[in-house]
Amino acid sequence: MDYVPFGRTGLSVSVAGLGCGGNSQLGLGRGKSEADAVRLVLAAFDEGVTLFDTAEVYGTEGVVGTAVRQIGRDKIILATKARMRECGNLISATQLAEKIDASLKAMQTDYIDLYQLHAVTLAMVDQVEAELVPVLQAAKASGKIRHFGLTETSPNDHDQVMLQRVLPTGLWESAMFAFNLMNQGARQAVFPLTQAHGVGTLLMFVVRNVFSQPGLLEQTVKDLATAGQLPAAFTDDPEPLGFLIHESGATSLLDAAYRYARHEPGAHVTLFGTSEISHLKANIASILRPPLPEADRKRLENTFGHLKGVGLDLPHRAKAPKQ
Ligand SMILES: NC(=O)c1ccc[n+]([C@@H]2O[C@H](COP(=O)([O-])OP(=O)(O)OC[C@H]3O[C@@H](n4cnc5c(N)ncnc54)[C@H](OP(=O)(O)O)[C@@H]3O)[C@@H](O)[C@H]2O)c1
Repeated sequence: MDYVPFGRTGLSVSVAGLGCGGNSQLGLGRGKSEADAVRLVLAAFDEGVTLFDTAEVYGTEGVVGTAVRQIGRDKIILATKARMRECGNLISATQLAEKIDASLKAMQTDYIDLYQLHAVTLAMVDQVEAELVPVLQAAKASGKIRHFGLTETSPNDHDQVMLQRVLPTGLWESAMFAFNLMNQGARQAVFPLTQAHGVGTLLMFVVRNVFSQPGLLEQTVKDLATAGQLPAAFTDDPEPLGFLIHESGATSLLDAAYRYARHEPGAHVTLFGTSEISHLKANIASILRPPLPEADRKRLENTFGHLKGVGLDLPHRAKAPKQ
């Protein structure tokens, strides 16, 4: 595993981070047991993963806490998040303080390394800064949390305007946002700000559905071509990203996707979610491979660099969707 400094936090993080939500929810979203989910976390740690990203709404804080007790609390960087709305209203300062305590209890730990506000919109920001940031600062001062950050709501913020508003304030120590082969907007919109302000970055939607569900990429590209957002030749292209897979390039589409994100300048943690230990091992191997060849990266930028919002859909699973 490779480890990098996480912005100005002083933390060193594994470049591969296990996402404990998304489609897979450590397997709980695929009908697997809590014991299977614990095994997945332990397998990730065995491969060198030290950052685990869960959330109040994922239903995996307990499982992660169980695994962390087996591993050793000081060996792990535990990240979790607070849901921002209750009964349709932005949460209050009191509710946020209660959520921090609830996460500590659910994970059976006395500190959280990275506490994040989950899916923050631009409309929330003024109130978040006035009412919730003081709670985060107090929790940090008391040692309940070590660092705090926030995540965007990618399906609802294709232009990443929320992060462009908040990052220059210097309040936030981390940002989680979307970046993928066909959604490269963060290169101009977000990374220059995270780099200027020493903000740790966690990349999400790197694969999600569009690069993992059979047929979805071809249909997506066809729709974009029909809408005039891609050249007409893409209307009938059975392998729109096939050019990435060759002897000195990627071994598969997923290999390309994870390598592309991991090597973007300013990227710290590339999140991946899975329910399968075999997928976990393959993804970590991809994240640790060298960058895609320069010619392939240029072609990706030239062909898809203008697109926004591709692959930012809600999870594909039977249960109620949660980001
Ligand atoms: N707003 C937010 O805060 C927010 C929103 C979205 C995501 N996130 C974070 O980002 C993490 C990752 O997000 P994501 O769910 O979009 O993960 P992802 O890594 O982009 O995509 C995971 C999907 O690809 C499949 N997959 C993974 N590895 C595979 C492989 N080697 N071969 C075939 N299929 C594979 C998974 O299914 P299998 O189970 O079959 O492997 C799953 O359906 C989340 O867990 C969460 O921590 C945060």
